[in-house]
Amino acid sequence: MLYKKRLMTPGPTEVPPTVLAQGGQPIIHHRTPQFRKVLTEVVAGLKRIFNTENDTLVFPAAGTGGMESAIVNLCSPGDAILVAACGNFGNRWTNIAKAFGVESEHYEVDWGQAVDPKEIEKRLAANPKITAVFITLSETSTGVESDVQTIGAIVAKTSAVLVVDAISGMGAIPMKTDEWKVDVVVVGAQKGLMIPPGLAMVSISKKAWDLAKIAKLPKFYFSWEKSQKSMVAEALANTPYTPSVSLLMQLAESIRLIEEEGIEAIWERHAKMGAATRAAMEALGLKLFATGRPSNAVTSVRVPEGVDGGKLFKTVRDTYGITLAGGQGQVKGKIFRIGHLGYADDWDVISAVAAIERALLEQGYKVELGKGLAAAEKVLFG
Ligand SMILES: Cc1ncc(COP(=O)(O)O)c(C=O)c1O
Repeated sequence: MLYKKRLMTPGPTEVPPTVLAQGGQPIIHHRTPQFRKVLTEVVAGLKRIFNTENDTLVFPAAGTGGMESAIVNLCSPGDAILVAACGNFGNRWTNIAKAFGVESEHYEVDWGQAVDPKEIEKRLAANPKITAVFITLSETSTGVESDVQTIGAIVAKTSAVLVVDAISGMGAIPMKTDEWKVDVVVVGAQKGLMIPPGLAMVSISKKAWDLAKIAKLPKFYFSWEKSQKSMVAEALANTPYTPSVSLLMQLAESIRLIEEEGIEAIWERHAKMGAATRAAMEALGLKLFATGRPSNAVTSVRVPEGVDGGKLFKTVRDTYGITLAGGQGQVKGKIFRIGHLGYADDWDVISAVAAIERALLEQGYKVELGKGLAAAEKVLFG
């Protein structure tokens, strides 16, 4: 009987037992010293994980809510902004801006590639009116990582602010907010931070606050100013509206776990899982989709000729109990993605590789059982 399920999508990810247990605690009221203690702890912990001294706010929202908050708090109608996209989530920056009447300069590379920092530099030089540059740390739809450090150094030399969607990258791959001069970082709950979906977190630099002060787009729920006033500026940690009490209690526990392991050790664990997964897929003769800078949070793999991607996904899920992700947008049906982030370890990778080998074989794809596993084990265990 199949009784153990594994969630290996690039979000939501599995939640550690002690974090799950926090979700079952009695609700505490949010205008109490007990809740303020939780909120204070969470904000301080997030700053350590984000590697920032900047103000850090938490909204009850999906990650996209955090992205929308960046657009509405930083932009004015008619502004020039630059979006550097390498997939579906990069495109979301442009789509949100468009919804609020801001036309972005949209620089998009072929999916599977990483954005070129030099192209961003060129475009900033060509248009000094650009007020903000929007990028994605780990592009979940293609499995590509952006060179945030280099882009940060480029944007810092201009008057523009750099906004990074680190929704699926934070807590999995390196993100050094202050050292890399990133002005705004947006993060979601259900990925590297290992809690259930429903929180968006945003850190904001002084340069970004200066832009926010003159930004004219309408906002209410996602007003950074209102949130900052309650959460940071007033003596008591508070939120303007009812917070997700249980999720914040869960986040306090996941921050404890993250710090117990150490953020750098976590980046190393993910680097190993990423390398092992890529080695396994290549050993099976499959082609990786991300050719530029593959992300260590998620591996994207081309569905080979003669294999039905949908069927492969279903077999791995329904027969072997492992949920992977398919392709999105223009690569729907053409790739599958293996999420190895958050509460994931070597044995999850081994299980996924074994299941993929068997599912491929069942479709008549020529595969030598164990070949992918041997390659993964070599990376993981030497
Ligand atoms: C890189 C990235 N950006 C944005 C999002 C959107 O997050 P949400 O679905 O929580 O709104 C995701 C979620 O998959 C993501 O991985």
